[in-house]
Amino acid sequence: MTAPIVVRSPGKLFIAGEYAVVTPGEPAVLVAVDRYLTVRLTPSAHSGSIHSPEFGRTPLVWGRTGDGLTIDTEHHPYEYVLAAITLAERLRSERGLTAHYYDLHIDSGLDDASGRKFGLGSSAAVTIATIRAIDEFYGFGLSRRDAYRLALLATVQVAPQASGGDLAASAFGGWISYRSPDRRVLRQSLDEGASVAELLASPGWEPMDIARLTPPASLRFLVGWTGRPASTARLVDAVRDGSGAMDYPAFLLDSRACVTDLARALDEGDDSATLDAVRRARRLLRRLGRSAGVAIETDALAALCDTAESAGAAAKSSGAGGGDCGIVLAPEDADIAGMLRDWEERDIRHLTLSVSPAEGGAP
Ligand code: PMV
Repeated sequence: MTAPIVVRSPGKLFIAGEYAVVTPGEPAVLVAVDRYLTVRLTPSAHSGSIHSPEFGRTPLVWGRTGDGLTIDTEHHPYEYVLAAITLAERLRSERGLTAHYYDLHIDSGLDDASGRKFGLGSSAAVTIATIRAIDEFYGFGLSRRDAYRLALLATVQVAPQASGGDLAASAFGGWISYRSPDRRVLRQSLDEGASVAELLASPGWEPMDIARLTPPASLRFLVGWTGRPASTARLVDAVRDGSGAMDYPAFLLDSRACVTDLARALDEGDDSATLDAVRRARRLLRRLGRSAGVAIETDALAALCDTAESAGAAAKSSGAGGGDCGIVLAPEDADIAGMLRDWEERDIRHLTLSVSPAEGGAP
């Protein structure tokens, strides 16, 4: 029997630029973390299958819009896996390669042993890992950038709003800056039957941009988990619905300035400007939440960040907020031990993870 193909993709956390990055061309900074999801592909005979003990235990989450119900597909990673298989198979057929069956075994080290989600981007990691495993199986020879592009095309079939920043972090590792392409245009081309190969190479990806950033050499990166999982899709919809009552273009401008300053501070190794930018990013998201009437920074996240700031560090909610994780960047003289004691008293769990190494060369 052929040896299994094993692909490991890291989880991610947002550092700055959340919500704004959903708008094509607006920048964000993300890191990949050293917790991984693994996909193992084995060829099979008459049908293919997807196995995952973690995902099997994930509950279905539903919400309301007006009179109707919405099912939160984000909590069903199988949908991402199926979308990834569908697109990869479309590429295989375009290339005239013989079709085969295969079994995928998914092992997510991004959630805890009891299946609780930390919000580390398991949907993105499973989409990237699935694409890369099938790429290896059929010998497509995709570059990392094309694997990310194919994964984004699959993702927008399931979550049209998603910026894809999490896919970029998972595909490239380390610290990255990211601007999203116009996913609506790409999706439309795909729906109209464009060839996947042509779409991967088309100029339709503008203004997408992925670049590596220099990791801060003397700032410690810490992550706290509030114990409450949050639904990104629902929060993004709520912010979109609530943003009519505010000056959203002004938020985008402020976010762009903040993320640009953060990227520059990182590349210049300027720790104090890095900390300032993270504090600014926190204030921007708080203001966005207040204006749109959405709890981006929950009480638990506020406590996590306040204790970190009192200890001399910079902190903020990561990603959509509403629960999940907060990130902290701490200078060497910050009272981290005091902060961690405070977190423990408030039931905030310190996740012992670090930024994962950069992978796969330059984006
Ligand atoms: O909640 P997370 O970690 O999946 O991050 C969501 C970040 C948003 O900018 C709010 C949405 C997106 O797709 O980028």
